[in-house]
Amino acid sequence: MTNNHLIAPSILAADFANLQQEIEMLNQSQADWIHVDIMDGMFVPNISFGFPVVSAVNKHAKKPLDVHLMIVEPDRYLKAFKDAGASNITVHYEACPNLNRTVQAIKELGCTAGVALNPHTPVSILEDIVGDLNLVLIMSVNPGFGGQHFIKNTYKKLHDIKELSSRYNPDLLIEVDGGVDQHNAADLIRAGATVLVAGSSVFSAPEALSAISNLKQAGN
Ligand code: DX5
Ligand code: ZN
Repeated sequence: MTNNHLIAPSILAADFANLQQEIEMLNQSQADWIHVDIMDGMFVPNISFGFPVVSAVNKHAKKPLDVHLMIVEPDRYLKAFKDAGASNITVHYEACPNLNRTVQAIKELGCTAGVALNPHTPVSILEDIVGDLNLVLIMSVNPGFGGQHFIKNTYKKLHDIKELSSRYNPDLLIEVDGGVDQHNAADLIRAGATVLVAGSSVFSAPEALSAISNLKQAGN
């Protein structure tokens, strides 16, 4: 059986001193999107990078930028991220008191609208908004750092989001982010994931290109 899941390598694990080369490698690879993690030191206990870096990445990238905002009050910066090159913008449920408004604002910018859930946030809270979303991102580690261990309860959450998706939004993209590698990729796809984010398992591999192609073939 073939499947058509997407692969989104996370540049959080890339060599920032050679970012152009890393992006060119991703351009040549079987990656579908480039995952860009934005951390503000408030929503998560770490700071990654901001607009100048996203724009610089976008200058070289030939694939859509999948921007994951781990920041408080993301509404203040949606347009700036769109202008910096974002195709997809994902905000955290836990950071958005007016989530419906935020999602509409992302769509009005012409971007794919995603909502991310922290490991402790149940999928069921999305019932009344899932029909308006393009993408749900299930965090399979606590957000803030690359290279952490995959949390197994993610499989239960995939089951739950698949159920909501089949009821309210069959086109929903289901993204898994954190601790994804060639050992769990096939299981995640079978469980319903349609987009796999991978940072360290791609950029710390001896051959990043083959790590990406292994993830792309997983489950076939
Ligand atoms: C974590 C980020 C992830 C991270 C994944 O807060 O959202 O995208 O880069 O890194 P790995 O694949 O190393 O767990
Ligand atoms: Zn991420």
